[in-house]
Amino acid sequence: MKNQIAKIKEELGTKLSTVSAADGLAVIESSFKKTMKELFTDMKALVPEDKREAGQLINELKNEFEAKFKAMRAELASGAKTEVTLDLSIASPEFVRGKIHPLIRVGKMMEDVYKEMGFSIAYGPEVENDKHNYEMLNMPYYHPARDMQDTFYLEYPNVLLRSHTSCVQIRYMLAHKPPFMIISPGVVYRVDEIDMQHTPCFYQVEGLVVGEGINLANLKWAMTESAKRIFGDSLQVRFSPCYYPYTEPSAAVDMSCIMCGGKGCRTCKGTGWMRVAGAGMVHPNVFEGVGYSRETQGFAFGWGLNRLPMLYFKIAEMRKLFENEISLWEQL
Ligand code: DAH
Repeated sequence: MKNQIAKIKEELGTKLSTVSAADGLAVIESSFKKTMKELFTDMKALVPEDKREAGQLINELKNEFEAKFKAMRAELASGAKTEVTLDLSIASPEFVRGKIHPLIRVGKMMEDVYKEMGFSIAYGPEVENDKHNYEMLNMPYYHPARDMQDTFYLEYPNVLLRSHTSCVQIRYMLAHKPPFMIISPGVVYRVDEIDMQHTPCFYQVEGLVVGEGINLANLKWAMTESAKRIFGDSLQVRFSPCYYPYTEPSAAVDMSCIMCGGKGCRTCKGTGWMRVAGAGMVHPNVFEGVGYSRETQGFAFGWGLNRLPMLYFKIAEMRKLFENEISLWEQL
């Protein structure tokens, strides 16, 4: 945002240096107001540390140019500046500012919520190996659960695009000792046909909490609380038994459908619920594989991030998130 503000400042300076009539100045002033409004909107989506700095810069920009406009208005009214260098009363081309993508906006919201709850953020590579993506998550090469998460290979059978962010759990545990609470947002890949709910590349936010006494109630609270902080207190979160090789017990996590308030609609296929995450207590085999004791306690979860901006902004089809449909973006 710093660069953007510097650019705006430079462009405005150039425009102002050539203005010679009050109506030309008015055009610049009104486009400046619009730009300021957009900057303030964009600022709201930043993380708190960046927000503070951006807010200061935006205010400085605002004060500086408002003072300049005032001085120029007085100068033009007094007739002091009469030399015409450029006719700025001709309408200037509309300046269209881009926006932060809904996926990134909701991803940042998630990061902020988890940071508030005391989690740190860890990242892992998108090009992974079989060991981290499957093997050490209790999915040996013959395991049928691999079929549900088929991915793309750069070099068969070992180098692949990660099919989930769960591999960051392994990388993190190999490098750290408990206790810790982390989330790991990122892109994942799967051999999925494109339809209303699926795209071959999508976003997840993984979570991993390991420490003495960590239990299923902690997992339920952490996931419910984070979802409510984003979608509001009326949201309901439902856990039901499910199977993942790397957790035991495992849960499927559903959110009450935001589109219809849980009544049942096309998006939730009439059920009133939307599957948004998988979760569970980390399997002892996984702990053992990273060199921890089998008695270690911890939970893990993985949010399918694409679903969340769909619900937050009420977008019915996932592929819309990847299409450059300007009319849609303008409404968000
Ligand atoms: N990796 C799962 C998926 O991509 C989601 C998931 C399920 C993550 C259970 C977890 C977990 O950490 O414990 O569908």
